[in-house]
Amino acid sequence: MEHTVTALPAERRPGRPFDPPAELIDARRHGPISRYVFPDGHRGWLVTGYDLVRAVLADPRFSSRKEFMIHHPFIDYSGMEAPPASPGEFILMDDPQHSRYRKPLMGKFTVRRMRLLTERIEQITAEHLDAMEKAGPPADLVTAFAKPIPAIVICELLGVPYEDRGSFQEHIDSFLNGETDEETLITAYTATQDYLAELVAAKRADPTDDVLSDLTDSDLTDEELRGMSLILLAAGLDTTANMLALGTFALLRNPGQLAALRADPALTDRAVEELLRYLSVAKMFMRTALEDVELGGRTIEAGTTVVLSNHTANRDPERFTDPHVLDLRREEGGHVAFGHGVHQCLGQQLARVEMRVAFPALVGRFPTLRLAVPAEEVALRPEIADIFGVRSLPVTWDA
Ligand code: HEM
Repeated sequence: MEHTVTALPAERRPGRPFDPPAELIDARRHGPISRYVFPDGHRGWLVTGYDLVRAVLADPRFSSRKEFMIHHPFIDYSGMEAPPASPGEFILMDDPQHSRYRKPLMGKFTVRRMRLLTERIEQITAEHLDAMEKAGPPADLVTAFAKPIPAIVICELLGVPYEDRGSFQEHIDSFLNGETDEETLITAYTATQDYLAELVAAKRADPTDDVLSDLTDSDLTDEELRGMSLILLAAGLDTTANMLALGTFALLRNPGQLAALRADPALTDRAVEELLRYLSVAKMFMRTALEDVELGGRTIEAGTTVVLSNHTANRDPERFTDPHVLDLRREEGGHVAFGHGVHQCLGQQLARVEMRVAFPALVGRFPTLRLAVPAEEVALRPEIADIFGVRSLPVTWDA
């Protein structure tokens, strides 16, 4: 019998901040694909199984185009316009438009290039740990550590002056934190666009040694460059920051795993992959079928919206042993925390280097690091946020 999900959960279960909401785990138990009726009545699908999530992400018959994203699990778009993505906002486009923007960026985010940044990332990390140590406990790990490190790194890489962050950082946070009303969103989007338009003009007039300046030496228009910078900046600011804060929270809740990481820094690379799998901060994506597609024994009709749960895919018991256990020594790779297919995360090597530096540096510097409040009091982002995380993470240590 077909399993039908009629409402996606508002929040995670109390005491289980790292696990997918119960309704999603239950849907996976019924099979890798369920019927899903959106709040506006649209009869779509919810894919929770690993193999099927990957199959959809790899299939060009499923579109990422913004103008098709008119049904949403948490937002009722009925009666609203559905314009296509603005020029350059390639995460919401299909090929060939998507690859027009992605191609010139690919060489700039390679493993080799990102590894060259290691020393600088170590330096930025050490500076923030020094500042935490100097100020003494307690600290909010989000503002003292998790947010500024990836922000400085992406700003330097793109050529966005970090001292201008007042013009974009909180605005971008408001796009992704799931707590912003429509009016504020529009104001934040406009202000960020205005700032980036000025920046692109400045780079064109006076190119410096950075990714945005390099991109001005191409046939991309100012409007396209503005859209690309927005996607890069938003992705670079919010994702790794949430991984660092939520990852630290998860380590503090799993003291045996934390001790293993402290004792054996050689575990770091595997630990980062496991935290990515376990936490899946980019937890859910949507695609629209461009034609009828057979998937998992069902026919997905053209025009139907499919919700993909990356988080349950990464917790699929048919793919991962004891999927709900955080095991930093896990050898099973292949998680979909960075997605899969043509839109697979462009910044994944950067995110990996950042996390491989930051986690061991933090736990090494503060051997007595612990939560400064009971775990239940750590404020989580609401489930409707595009990127999951904590709003703040009060920590303390023996000074
Ligand atoms: C741990 C941190 C990160 C996670 C979990 C993450 C996750 C993801 C996922 C799941 C996608 C696929 C979206 C889709 O299929 O629709 C994606 C795309 C993307 N990510 Fe990341 N990301 C991270 C860090 C970064 C960083 C640091 C950058 C910096 C440049 C970045 C840039 C991008 C871009 C540009 C795309 C769009 C790629 C495309 O559409 O071709 N990400 N990311």
